[in-house]
Amino acid sequence: MKASDVKKPSWLPRWLRPVPRRLAEARAFTSDRFGEALDAALGIAGWLHPDQAAMICHLAHLCPGGPIVEIGSFKGKSTVFLARARKTSNTLTAIDPHLLTYAGDDRDRDRSFRNEATSWDAFQETLRNWDLDSRIEILREFSHEVVKRWSDPIAFLWIDGDHREESVSRDIADWVDFVLPGGFVGFHDTHPHHAGHGGPRRALAAVGFLKDHGFDTWLELRNAWFFRRRDSFSRGERDRTPSAESASPADRTKIRD
Ligand SMILES: C[S@@+](CC[C@H](N)C(=O)[O-])C[C@H]1O[C@@H](n2cnc3c(N)ncnc32)[C@H](O)[C@@H]1O
Repeated sequence: MKASDVKKPSWLPRWLRPVPRRLAEARAFTSDRFGEALDAALGIAGWLHPDQAAMICHLAHLCPGGPIVEIGSFKGKSTVFLARARKTSNTLTAIDPHLLTYAGDDRDRDRSFRNEATSWDAFQETLRNWDLDSRIEILREFSHEVVKRWSDPIAFLWIDGDHREESVSRDIADWVDFVLPGGFVGFHDTHPHHAGHGGPRRALAAVGFLKDHGFDTWLELRNAWFFRRRDSFSRGERDRTPSAESASPADRTKIRD
């Protein structure tokens, strides 16, 4: 993989920035796992940078057994990287209403149900091409609908759905506490200027939730952040920590960099 999403030091050209060990391991794992099929996987339509694809691929393998949950599948690019790496002890649930746009409001939903073009057909085609159609749980719904009936501890949670700040904050509040000790959570499009609005970045900075809830940074790329929940983190510890709503402003800024 030639291109790099490495963040620091930012004054160096991207191709000269030192590659963190965890990223180097993820790249090696991903090339090994995909072999000659890697270029085809990276060629699936979507916004996932090769380093981000490598990270989610490796974490889908490193995470404990249990469900891997993807919020936002679009045409299936990240789905393929998660699916290819997971162990037999991991299931994969892909959640996406497959709307015309990813703003995720009711207007989009109405248009979607009038059968205009959405990511749905392309997503299904990707699954067929990669022989995944019967091996994934596909939920064509909003994440905030699915969570109402979700109860399983999650091994790896990949959040790449509705990128508005309030929606990312809701996904964090709804889903992150399901992550198992030793499990991972990743966020896409964390760059402050992503798509001109920076919703995921602001949601992460404002909520201050992850460190309070036993997460340590695993790796910060330019445009994707990954956290791991401490092995020792227990349910009791979580109950003693402030929630997103009750955290003081000081707590909420703990993970701002
Ligand atoms: C940036 S794309 C995802 C890209 C995908 N992960 C990839 O690798 O190509 C965002 C997707 O999130 C979906 N989305 C929007 N709101 C959502 C929600 N509340 N829950 C789940 N998915 C949502 C959109 O339909 C869209 O397909």
